[in-house]
Amino acid sequence: MLEEFFIMIHLDGKSLSFSILESLKSRVVEFQKKHSVVPGLAVLLVGDDSASHVYVRQKLKQCSNIGFHSKLKNFPANVKISDLKKQVEEFNKDSQFHGVLIQLPLPSSLKEEEVLSCLDPAKDVDGLTLENRALLWSNRPRVVPCTPLGIIKLLKHYKISIEGQKAVVVGRSQIVGLPMVQQLLYHQATVTVCHSRTKNLKEECSQADIVIACAGKKSLLSKKDFKKEAVVVDVGIHRVVQDSKTYLVGDVDSEGLENHLKALSPVPGGVGPMTIAMLLENTFHLAEQFMKESL
Ligand code: GUN
Repeated sequence: MLEEFFIMIHLDGKSLSFSILESLKSRVVEFQKKHSVVPGLAVLLVGDDSASHVYVRQKLKQCSNIGFHSKLKNFPANVKISDLKKQVEEFNKDSQFHGVLIQLPLPSSLKEEEVLSCLDPAKDVDGLTLENRALLWSNRPRVVPCTPLGIIKLLKHYKISIEGQKAVVVGRSQIVGLPMVQQLLYHQATVTVCHSRTKNLKEECSQADIVIACAGKKSLLSKKDFKKEAVVVDVGIHRVVQDSKTYLVGDVDSEGLENHLKALSPVPGGVGPMTIAMLLENTFHLAEQFMKESL
């Protein structure tokens, strides 16, 4: 018998995010004409984690590309939590900024929940405050966290059906795993959450129609862990050095997947650029809400 031949879909977040940002650019022009206001994003970055610095630079670059204004406040890793909270409160009060992003992770000496609790939920672009998490889980989101929102948009763009599918989310972070579960449930998938203590992780994944790999562990999953024609979204991003060259790889080892999966998001160029595009969409949405409420 002839073996079935698949052409795997590459879930190209780079090109989709480009078209999303182009259309946002023209909406920003209209917004500015109507309100004489420029949407603004404030970013708080603590410590010297090199990956966080790269991500923040990319976020700020896209802000300027689409006509937002933005401001970066850098703090050393040993900053006092009271100083950080003071800065968040300043951004809360500053009407130039419609969105505030606290780049995560914060250094381990700082309690993320304590800093986030100072953030005005109306400016919380990541949807991480308690109020916004409650709204999300009540199916009335103010904003959907950027990475899960970007993944849903990517799947929809490539006409990957979610309804009735068995989805496995590997990872349970507040910023990706848990809101991803909510979004998949909202779109009518049957969802299993796996994490570092899951006993039969690989078996769970091998039964899934859709796997979202967001454990933050390099090469955690590979071909043998996926059924044929599964859809795999790789949220991981890890730097590896080989033969004095640096590469980016995900939580999924991509070897041999081309003729096995129905779709895969590449690393880089899959989820990463979608997260940035959604950050800017969320900021724009909060700016629109702010204008509505100030009428
Ligand atoms: N760190 C990595 N991704 C993100 C993100 O989407 N938002 C924030 N605040 N921190 C991050």
